[in-house]
Amino acid sequence: MYEAGKEELEAVARLLSTQKLFRYQGPGVATECQSFEQELASFMGQDFGLLMTSGTNALVASMIAAGIGPGDEVVIPTYTFFATAAAVVTVGAIPIIVNVDESLSLCPKELAEALTDRTKAVIPVHMDGRPCDMKSIKELCLKNNLVLIEDVAQAIGGHYQGQRLGSIGDFGCYSFNQDKIISAGEGGALVCRDALAYKRAQNAHDACCVFGATLRETFDKDSVFVGGSMRVSELTGAILRVQLQRLDGIINQLRSHQAQLEKSLGRAGFALASKNCKQGDCGTSIMVRFSNPEEALAQSKRWTELGLRSLPISIRPAHAVWQWVHLLREEKFLNAKLNPYQWSSRKPRELYHPLNFHPSVERLMSTIKLSVPYSPEELEKQLAILST
Ligand SMILES: Cc1ncc(COP(=O)(O)O)c(C=O)c1O
Repeated sequence: MYEAGKEELEAVARLLSTQKLFRYQGPGVATECQSFEQELASFMGQDFGLLMTSGTNALVASMIAAGIGPGDEVVIPTYTFFATAAAVVTVGAIPIIVNVDESLSLCPKELAEALTDRTKAVIPVHMDGRPCDMKSIKELCLKNNLVLIEDVAQAIGGHYQGQRLGSIGDFGCYSFNQDKIISAGEGGALVCRDALAYKRAQNAHDACCVFGATLRETFDKDSVFVGGSMRVSELTGAILRVQLQRLDGIINQLRSHQAQLEKSLGRAGFALASKNCKQGDCGTSIMVRFSNPEEALAQSKRWTELGLRSLPISIRPAHAVWQWVHLLREEKFLNAKLNPYQWSSRKPRELYHPLNFHPSVERLMSTIKLSVPYSPEELEKQLAILST
């Protein structure tokens, strides 16, 4: 969380005084959750928004709403938090993991080569606030009739060629956990344009909404099925309404700090990873490239000792394929009947052979992520360190 203050406190206090913390309060009553959903959808230029417990569940609900399930293949990149892969497996589908390109996001060329007649969806991930090559990815999805689900957990507020991230595909999925650009401690949301997909996502997120008085009338035979529970309380909605109002301000400040740091790094001769849309970058991070992993590690150690927030991708906890692929490769499912590979002819040992990911491993291991500071004082300190 970058910023929170008296506005969030007041919103929570106001809400508590009503003693109504459930997200449904009867037909026609605009609750905090519902208002946030409308505000988020409008911010993103979409028709519908749905607030829920996590970014992972936003991906799950999107896939359920799109009818994705056992036997289907869903393409994801090698560089993402494990949740993206876990969400695919949760709906019984198979993650097809594609290398990242020089921009450290899903490589469109490799995506084209990975498609089979079982591919149903693609999940590009805008990691570290950096937009993917959405033009190429969207073209491929349209040509092959694939569902496009953007994982925007780390990039809310960014854009690709003027279009808000999350509004380019069929679904945009956001996370509001503690580490995200705006946050309520935990939380997630999806946005979409299609009314039926929205109703199905509502049902996936709350098995009971088709029974309750608030929404019962809005459902029909195409949108009623057995759902789950991913509901949040009004507290989440109230906090996020305030956070959403802060979003553009937060991004502007981060972008300005990022530009100053990038300039300084450029002067010092450091190489930065290429960007698919420089103007749309959220400004949260700077990806510095080195010629090999040893150089990246040594520089990261120097920077950390000097006081920069420097993290080599090689030691990020669960964000790169080599940190999580073993769970898929070894078919780690507590109940064997829930193992999705039983519905597929693809064998995890071949699908996830380490050699497949070699281009990503080399690129990512030779990269350092520098977190851009939000506070101007911290920025000054970091600029001073880089200029010595
Ligand atoms: C890229 C990415 N996708 C998905 C998620 C999942 O979000 P959540 O933690 O809200 O489930 C995260 C969270 O860190 C993430 O970074």
